[in-house]
Amino acid sequence: MREDHQAAVHGVDEARLWQRHMEMAQIGATPNGGVNRAAFSEEDIRARRVLAGWAKARNFAVSMDGIGNLFVRRPGLEPDAAPVLAGSHMDSQPRGGRFDGIYGVLAALEALEAIDEAGVKTKRPIELVAWSNEEGGRFAPCTMGSAVYTGARRLEDFLDVTDNDGVVLKHALAETIAALPEAAARAFNAPAAAYIEAHIEQGPLLEMQGTTIGVVTGIQGLRWFMIEVSGETAHAGTTPLKARKDALRGAVQVMQALGELTHDPDDIVRFTVGRMLVCPNSTNSVASQVLFSVDLRHPDPTTIRRLSNAVEPLARKAAAPCGVRVTPTLWDDPCVFDPHVVEAIERSANSLGLSNMRLPSGASHDAMYMARVCPTGMIFVPCEKGVSHNEAENARPGDLSAGARVLTAALLDLANR
Ligand code: GLV
Ligand code: MN
Ligand code: MN
Repeated sequence: MREDHQAAVHGVDEARLWQRHMEMAQIGATPNGGVNRAAFSEEDIRARRVLAGWAKARNFAVSMDGIGNLFVRRPGLEPDAAPVLAGSHMDSQPRGGRFDGIYGVLAALEALEAIDEAGVKTKRPIELVAWSNEEGGRFAPCTMGSAVYTGARRLEDFLDVTDNDGVVLKHALAETIAALPEAAARAFNAPAAAYIEAHIEQGPLLEMQGTTIGVVTGIQGLRWFMIEVSGETAHAGTTPLKARKDALRGAVQVMQALGELTHDPDDIVRFTVGRMLVCPNSTNSVASQVLFSVDLRHPDPTTIRRLSNAVEPLARKAAAPCGVRVTPTLWDDPCVFDPHVVEAIERSANSLGLSNMRLPSGASHDAMYMARVCPTGMIFVPCEKGVSHNEAENARPGDLSAGARVLTAALLDLANR
């Protein structure tokens, strides 16, 4: 590694990186030590303002696109060269942890600052990106910001999505954008030379193997559906079972059928129902309508297609005598990361003497969409017991800074190509 690059990498400040995680964890802090920072919420806006403040203190330019993806730029020697991007997301699950997403954003900021402090000049600009609504916990589906940015989905398709309280996305988005007037407007899908996302593993492999760095090879396929089961409300005390069209009973039957469809002795298929809305949601009324989510994942493209094609016919059959409407909201085939980026990450970890291993990602990330438009890779660091999407999520300062050093080295490599 070049001497000035080494100086930048070793300038990554573990204490500053940790302190910023703790500061961000205050925004939307939950009683059990986690974070609730829903996309386009007051807390999301506060986190954006804090990040923009840190960027401004360094004179880095801040910009935002039409879905609120937030960019922080350190210029390169060739200002018109396509930048190298690094980042992740700042929104969280409703009962999320302190590291999912925010780590990739803060690691990218740490890399930018360490490079700046070492006075290193790069050929290409380097940009941090904080993607909007990665989690999809408030406004479904997930990875919305990167899907729109890369042109995989249209912004208009998401503007009327509502949260559980009936808030419409376009209003929450407008408030979010208005809250950061200093951010310059930015177009979607500007050319990028490469993208790297640092993230906690959200699984147990690195910790189990005692390995510090995960060099991510790709992401498994993912499908989301909303399933609406329609019946008729009736009196719980007087209506005979035979005369009912009980939407909640119908929904349970559909879930059971889908559970059987996705049963896998090898435990590779992932099937989750995590969200359910019941109408009228009253103890002594038969449910007239149930809306629930399906999250289905598998690393093999043929298997995920076969399983997702079976969802609608199976749901129809299982819900009888109730009606069913199945709406696919997300369909991402498995993705394989660019071999040159994967190698650059691996080389960086090796040159820093950090133990590393290649592994696929079970979780989805914005890197999945970026992989469609530019060479992309990811860096994983261990998290305690692999726990994530949980307030107990935890990670060690030394592992976070090791990942940030690998990110810094890899960004310097790619930004000079
Ligand atoms: C991202 O949070 C995912 O659901 O994989
Ligand atoms: Mn995440
Ligand atoms: Mn997540």
